[in-house]
Amino acid sequence: MNDAYDNLIVDVADRIATVAINRPDKLNALNSATERELQDVFPRLAANPDVGGIIVTGAGEKAFVAGADIGELAGLGATEGKEFAFQGQTTFTRIAQCPKPVVAAVNGYALGGGCELAIACHLRVASTRARFGLPEVTLGLIPGHGGTQRLARIIGTGRALEMVLTGRMVDAEEAHSWGLANAVCEPDQVIDTARSLLAQVLDKAPLAVQYALETTLRGEDMGLDDGLYMEATLFGMACGTDDMREGTAAFLEKRKPEFKAR
Ligand code: COA
Repeated sequence: MNDAYDNLIVDVADRIATVAINRPDKLNALNSATERELQDVFPRLAANPDVGGIIVTGAGEKAFVAGADIGELAGLGATEGKEFAFQGQTTFTRIAQCPKPVVAAVNGYALGGGCELAIACHLRVASTRARFGLPEVTLGLIPGHGGTQRLARIIGTGRALEMVLTGRMVDAEEAHSWGLANAVCEPDQVIDTARSLLAQVLDKAPLAVQYALETTLRGEDMGLDDGLYMEATLFGMACGTDDMREGTAAFLEKRKPEFKAR
């Protein structure tokens, strides 16, 4: 799969795919070629039966992703700027709507589009070197890849506005205390920590995991009544799976379940 990409390193092992953004000399800044590759890789991984979950990380020791490529941004006019934002939003929405769990392993700077990439993922592990920030206002811009929408849903409007309006970087400990990072670890442990977080999900019933992701994330955009209706519908679909029969039977028989994603 790596042959297909110039800016991503993709590796699959033990049912976990790792996608590393690979432009370390530019702190993994997302140029349009890298965004196109990200748009391409997620549907492929979602469709790959050997993959149960995905880790997104940055190559090198310094950065997860230091944002959109400022060199490319600098020349944008109003119309191209809107199109640029739509494209980035489409890429990150594919990640957010991936039916398999996606964990960001944030090993350094996650700024601008990098922070937006991290918050499009379902869970985040931060190394002690991680720095989250939305510095767009310092460039005369605003976040355009979901930052003004997704961040407040995770950490609340007050904290999100603090990040969006000041551009201040938040370290791993603060990110953890805000719920922006699910776990913090030493820099050399960030992939292992993300793998063990995913491993806790991967031994669960895959269709149940998919439905749980779908109802939790789609429900954020619905009123409570519609969200509850969707939850009941997906609960019903879970009840129709072989894995639900297996999971409940295994509990009652005091044994480990063997899920088959059916
Ligand atoms: N776009 C394009 N190139 C970037 C970049 C970005 N978002 N972030 C870093 N780079 C490049 C630098 O231009 C530099 O390239 P060069 O060696 O060819 O000059 C290289 O990556 C290393 O970055 P540098 O600034 O020298 O590292 P640093 O350790 O001094 O600072 C940061 C690190 C992250 C604080 C700094 O790079 C930075 O502020 N980057 C921009 C972050 C940002 O505003 N992102 C939001 C964009 S919307």
